Amino acid sequence: MQPVLKSVSLDKSQPLQQQLYVALTRLILEAQLEAGVHMPSSRRLAEDMQVSRNTVVAVYEQMKAEGFLVAEPGRGFFVSPSIRSEERRSWSAHNQSIVSCEAGQKGADGKQTAKKSLRASASLNEGNLPFTPGLPDLQAFPIKQWNRIAHHHESRLSLLGYDNIQGYTPLCEAIADYVRTSRGVRCNADQVIITCGAQQALALMCDVLLDAKDEVLIENPGYRGAKRVLQRHDIQLHAVPLHNNVLNVDALAKFSKAKLVYCTPTHQYPMGGSLNIAERLQLVRWAKAAGAWVLEDDYDSEFQFASRPFAAVQGLMDDAPVVYIGSFSKTLMPALRMGYMIVPSQLVEPVLRRKHIVSGESPTLAQAVVAEFMQTGQFNRHVRRMRQLYKSKWQYMVNAIETRLSDRLNIVAESAGMHLVVTFAQDDMPLVQHLKKQGFGSASLSDHFVSENIQENQFSKQNGLVLGFASASEKQIDQCVAVLDAVLN
Ligand SMILES: Cc1ncc(COP(=O)(O)O)c(C=O)c1O
Repeated sequence: MQPVLKSVSLDKSQPLQQQLYVALTRLILEAQLEAGVHMPSSRRLAEDMQVSRNTVVAVYEQMKAEGFLVAEPGRGFFVSPSIRSEERRSWSAHNQSIVSCEAGQKGADGKQTAKKSLRASASLNEGNLPFTPGLPDLQAFPIKQWNRIAHHHESRLSLLGYDNIQGYTPLCEAIADYVRTSRGVRCNADQVIITCGAQQALALMCDVLLDAKDEVLIENPGYRGAKRVLQRHDIQLHAVPLHNNVLNVDALAKFSKAKLVYCTPTHQYPMGGSLNIAERLQLVRWAKAAGAWVLEDDYDSEFQFASRPFAAVQGLMDDAPVVYIGSFSKTLMPALRMGYMIVPSQLVEPVLRRKHIVSGESPTLAQAVVAEFMQTGQFNRHVRRMRQLYKSKWQYMVNAIETRLSDRLNIVAESAGMHLVVTFAQDDMPLVQHLKKQGFGSASLSDHFVSENIQENQFSKQNGLVLGFASASEKQIDQCVAVLDAVLN
């Protein structure tokens, strides 16, 4: 065994799998485990660490998925040659603990969890039709527990006045705790700012960071909400194409004067790919060299099925020029209109000044409810249940499409979580309209490509649909697939 591995010691403070993952990734990022090093077999490491072999296998698989390790058939795992050693020094001894999102997850049956705790409403407005991208399963929301907490806070006089512009302090603390442990974000509660959804976070950051004529980069295809924010500014907007369904980080090299890049590194929106560790490091290295900011939109990383979500870009190194943006729209409900961002300390004041002007404080009562929901562990439980539920819906939908439509459309494998992207040759706009008439919300894939007047447009639009299966029942999935079967030819 590599002598350096002997320095790893595990204790009972946190799940063993999580501790082993943190220890091994840190050794790689600190260049103590060099590129190409042959990792011990899972059996050997399990014996040495006195953990089960399954634990080691799970950690190795996760590290392989993130690009820390590569597997060679019959030979085992090696440290990936694509992580250049000078990039690894920046990993500090920061007390980072990435909680295994699978830990404690005891195979809850998705169907059982979808307790009908909210009355189904026949009068959902157009924005809430099944298959609307990003819409969670509202019927599965634990509304009784939520109401109990809300009722408890309603009569607290201290919550009825003005509060801190940054956000309700217990909520900032709960969020800091959550993103540190589940996403590897490096922060303290003073860096958390509560916003009106991720959308306000994006708007505030662009207001604070951008000057006229700045070069700004977005993914293509990408999130339409970000495009709308950026198009308000008098800037030079460049569309960076994707490669393998993630931001093409090689293409950043020619933008050495860019001020900001907006991206979705953990679940590219809408195509679904995740930047691996080498690409993440390349992104941060480019941003540092260019003096650019990375706006990391981590809108739905909780709902990854293939592996544990990759740790956030923000947490890769202490001085990464990254603003991390999160949202409760997917994990709780869009109606809360609550999101948050983690900003470097020097940006806190300017952002708060801007927030004062555009919105004032965020609603305190709602923040207090979310804070208690998180502090009491109900948030993590809900997210775990939803992950199971969405996974089973995703499998059901993939199966239904493959059975009936595989000759006419392609499923983009990476797109999972809460939506599925399918591509096909025919014009997608009329199809979206047709689905809407049948009571199904969806979005046209071609609409996620930036329009022709944006500079550097070397792309061809793809036709397809973004189908938000999270909000659909199995019956509705069957119905929607039947409609597609009838109209796609
Ligand atoms: C890429 C992306 N970012 C952020 C959000 C969340 O936005 P908000 O928190 O404003 O609801 C969404 C919602 O659809 C999204 O798709």
